[in-house]
Amino acid sequence: MSNQTRIGDSILEASHLLKNGELVAIPTETVYGLAANGLNSEACTEIFKVKNRPFFDPLILHIGNKDDLNALVNEIPEHYIPLINKFWPGPLTLVFNKSEIVPDIVCSGGNTVAIRMPSHPLTLKLLKSIDFPLAAPSANPFKYVSPTNPVHVKDQLNGKISYILDGGDCEVGLESTIVKSDDGILTILRVGGISVESLMEFNPNIRLSIKPQDNPIAPGQLEHHYSPHCKLEIINNTAELFDSYDAIISVIPLKLPIDMNLRHKIILLSKSGDLSEAAQNLFKELRNIDIHGYSNVGILLGPEEGLGRAINDRLTRAASSKV
Ligand code: TXA
Ligand code: MG
Repeated sequence: MSNQTRIGDSILEASHLLKNGELVAIPTETVYGLAANGLNSEACTEIFKVKNRPFFDPLILHIGNKDDLNALVNEIPEHYIPLINKFWPGPLTLVFNKSEIVPDIVCSGGNTVAIRMPSHPLTLKLLKSIDFPLAAPSANPFKYVSPTNPVHVKDQLNGKISYILDGGDCEVGLESTIVKSDDGILTILRVGGISVESLMEFNPNIRLSIKPQDNPIAPGQLEHHYSPHCKLEIINNTAELFDSYDAIISVIPLKLPIDMNLRHKIILLSKSGDLSEAAQNLFKELRNIDIHGYSNVGILLGPEEGLGRAINDRLTRAASSKV
């Protein structure tokens, strides 16, 4: 592997590397992934090494056609069908009982495998040009903020992989929503790019797992995750407190009258209060905190609805170890 990681848009080059068992960072509509041949145990092991990720945290397989599912799973739960029809390709990951061809390393030795069909056109083309699924976690070192453009990936993984497929900025900016099925009961293991409300339209009985960090089935849902290096704290919407922070991240515009001296401190994720826009900006702004070298940042969460739920989830996890 070369010392410098190259950024380019060659599907041919990406597929060549992947066929040779190498890692390539790929764009998806959610975040950039660190991809390897998902049927090649050695290549998948390399993902864990490069990310410094513990082996107990399983990987998501990405497919380019819905039909590719059949070889990877033992059965397709009936309740998944309307979700697959509606949300694939897109930011929804479903957990299945795995077939024999899925290597243990992908599933951390368990019987289930998480699968999604991403919608980014470049990655869909790439997936259609190879005859194996891509195992891909987010392309960041374990516990750091997920990357939403090729430069974010290079900043963190330069020299550790040879190629980043450049698909521009990620449209969604939050990882996929993960759903599992137990005897027909659907549970959301991770809130993400598809909102709970949208899923409920298709399955009113779907439930949210109570506290993801208590759930051994999604070990990647550690309480402390997505974290920049500075001290982060969730705060209440009271302007008196603002003075004690270097900066304040606010998901939506503040309702409080803020004096001009404090205004410069506020990093607003969406000026118009649009939660899709706030999601797109979230990880970029968390990275910017480190670039600016802030040491003490307050967080004002947004509304607990639609994508706001996933935004608040990521911000709360980012802050959780920062006490
Ligand atoms: O949007 C996304 O999902 C991105 C892009 C690259 O596709 N990927 C992503 O991967 O966020 P990662 O590895 O950062 O998060 C995957 C999550 C982890 O929390 C892991 O525990 C969970 O998926 N997971 C993987 N396999 C699972 C399984 N069999 N059962 C339950 N959870 C699983
Ligand atoms: Mg991740």
